[in-house]
Amino acid sequence: MADEYTGPEPDLAALLAARPALSMNAREGLSFESVPLNAIADKYGTPVWVYGAGSIQARFNALRAAFGAENLPVHIHYAVKANDHLAILSLFHRLGAGADVVSIGEFLRARRVGVRAAEIVYSGVGKATAELEAALAQGIGQINVESAEELDMLSGIASRMGVVAPVVLRMNPDVDAGTHAKITTGLAENKFGIAAADIPALYARAATLPGIKPRGIALHIGSQILSTEPYAKAYAKATDMVRNLRGQGLSVEVLDLGGGLGIGYHDEPGLNLAAFAATVRREVGDLRVKLLLEPGRYLVGPAGLLLASVILQKRTEKRFVVLDAAMNELMRPALYEAWHGILPVDPALFHGAATPADVVGPICESADCFAQDRALPDLPPGTRVALLDTGAYGAVMSSAYNARPRAASVLVSGGQAQLITPRQTPEDLWADEILPG
Ligand code: LLP
Repeated sequence: MADEYTGPEPDLAALLAARPALSMNAREGLSFESVPLNAIADKYGTPVWVYGAGSIQARFNALRAAFGAENLPVHIHYAVKANDHLAILSLFHRLGAGADVVSIGEFLRARRVGVRAAEIVYSGVGKATAELEAALAQGIGQINVESAEELDMLSGIASRMGVVAPVVLRMNPDVDAGTHAKITTGLAENKFGIAAADIPALYARAATLPGIKPRGIALHIGSQILSTEPYAKAYAKATDMVRNLRGQGLSVEVLDLGGGLGIGYHDEPGLNLAAFAATVRREVGDLRVKLLLEPGRYLVGPAGLLLASVILQKRTEKRFVVLDAAMNELMRPALYEAWHGILPVDPALFHGAATPADVVGPICESADCFAQDRALPDLPPGTRVALLDTGAYGAVMSSAYNARPRAASVLVSGGQAQLITPRQTPEDLWADEILPG
């Protein structure tokens, strides 16, 4: 994010060195999980999203191992919003993850690849009646309720259906996660969760409501968190809350720790998993609750990149590198001033002398800019660049703005690339539009 990294801008070699899935070969150029990106671009065109199954698996296993080392059983529910492609969801399902969803669409995507409804957690400040009905009808495992109003609404729906909704109350711990204002969620001023002061009475009331079974507490303080400090503060508050509720004679079986685990977008390390697991153990390890985690970005962010071609370099008083990818594909720089590494794929260019350039897309908005004054070599038309760490909140946030057909996506697995989303055609863009007679 714009306001959190204060180190110097890493050069291309440093960006590469910090990313084990990438390698630069003098003959084949930049490869991702051993597959040359030029080969992918030649075969599938650009812009194209490239995801690595090996990276996803390695990151999932690292997270699980960190908790294993603390001897702390934790249920990982992948936050589907980060990347909801069926191929990605299927990978997580096979690795043994549950799902964290925020809409019935995400719920059905997870179901589509075989995730059991009981392994799905449903979060969000506004779940529509039809969505709650559908989730309850299928036997959803957990609904994270975010307000007194929603609790009453859910009680009405569940009792009408003759079912009991497994409810967890999302507490707003009023802790500053120290991230970008647009992705912090755990402050009192944010729309998320229920004020800690209101939880005890609401939890007690939930226990008396028809169609509701309160099972525990959830919290999620924000995204792209790089230090354990805000987690420690929030989890300490959660522990106090669980003890307080139990002191009132209420049963608490679940503590949902949320997600937010940050990654290094430059060449800095991401959240230290060992330190994070140790923090969880220290703050909540003695509670005898079922622990849930809802990570998204950590698991898929570095496991994906956006491969684009240079259309042209335009020189005014500045140098503009105009790509065939734009803000409609990757919104994060325009929306959050997010910084993404950009690497040339061609080995000769990679080692060329770097001068400042603005890297932009073809869309008619000044915000359609991926990088400003970025030190990059000469990038002649037709050469390719990789926009790094775009596996999370990349394709899921894209649009067809400026009538730009959706980019293709490819999954690399075991040294092979496989098409998992075909590129849209212009005709696809209006295929479901109705011309009034
Ligand atoms: N659980 C809840 C309740 C959430 O709201 C979120 C993310 C997550 C889990 C997963 O968070 P993660 O582990 O991925 O940080 N579009 C923004 C990020 C928005 C995150 C929204 N909530 C971005 O591109 O940075």
